[in-house]
Amino acid sequence: MLNNPLITDAFGRRFPYLRLSLTDVCNFSCSYCLPDGYQKTKGDCFMSADEIRRLVTAFAALGIWKIRLTGGEPTVRKDFVEIANIISTIPGIKKLAVTTNGYKLPERAASYAAAGISAINISIDSLQPQKFKDITGHDRLEEVLQGVDACFDAGIKNIKINTVLLKGINDCELDDLFNFVANKRISLRFIELMRTIDNHDYFNKHHLSGTAVTNRLQELGWQEIPRSDGAGPAVEFTHPQSVGNIGVIAPYSKDFCKTCNRLRVSAKGDLQLCLFGEGGNSLRHLLQDDNQQHELEDAILSLMQFKPLSHFLHQGNSGTRAHLASIGG
Ligand code: 5AD
Ligand code: SF4
Repeated sequence: MLNNPLITDAFGRRFPYLRLSLTDVCNFSCSYCLPDGYQKTKGDCFMSADEIRRLVTAFAALGIWKIRLTGGEPTVRKDFVEIANIISTIPGIKKLAVTTNGYKLPERAASYAAAGISAINISIDSLQPQKFKDITGHDRLEEVLQGVDACFDAGIKNIKINTVLLKGINDCELDDLFNFVANKRISLRFIELMRTIDNHDYFNKHHLSGTAVTNRLQELGWQEIPRSDGAGPAVEFTHPQSVGNIGVIAPYSKDFCKTCNRLRVSAKGDLQLCLFGEGGNSLRHLLQDDNQQHELEDAILSLMQFKPLSHFLHQGNSGTRAHLASIGG
């Protein structure tokens, strides 16, 4: 019997954290991700709540204690709250987080908190209503901003904003975005635009290095916070006059992968060893019965040895990822 080891890979990296996609479907059409909206493909069949329960039970037995629910947009699933409830009560799971576009958040935040969600990442790429609409295809900035407040009211302690850095689109809003967190206990993170198979031209036009943000932060007196053990890929900055922090996630930076502590499972039950890796390893056939748990744990442990050291983005290779909606960034 395994004595609760943390999952490790061939390079000694540990994995306390699983990002679990609940669906490929998204109701937004972000210009860098799904510019034409989500296109249904034949045979779309995402894991059921029971399959998800078995999957998370096995990962928890292997030492995973934090789960992040992603999509697509995870909250478009009708059983989203039920799934959150199931996962948050699985022994060993200490933290349940969600990444969302903020859709219907004002009326739903309280039900997420009640289902055990204690951390939420909300995507906001612009604080200007028209620009937000141009990027996402939805005139919903006000709703999403009210959703942020609703998360505070619901007692969700860990609130983050994700902002994809877009040259010529939101790079003129840096100071406004910094100011947005001045009085809020929030961390706003700028994410460098990542190249996928679908967004080559867009990438070439709008990719901007995260150093554009770090340079401006330094000009304004923000200071880098030393990286804590087990922290994610963001480099975080603090300022004496700001309650909130600013982070920069720069996947193209040197050594980004060194501290990788995340595994991903797609909505169809494929273990993805790297965001930009080649395809996935299906676990679905091992999710059909509670009796398969040990077999499932063994399969996960042996697949881990194939996790690559690093992605190949520098060489212009973005793997087989058409867009990030299929795995949630
Ligand atoms: N590059 C960077 N970030 C992306 N996201 C989606 N696609 C990309 C991309 N190509 C972001 C979303 C969301 C997070 C889950 O991933 O905006 O904030
Ligand atoms: Fe936008 Fe996220 Fe939906 Fe992609 S998955 S379209 S980034 S909200």
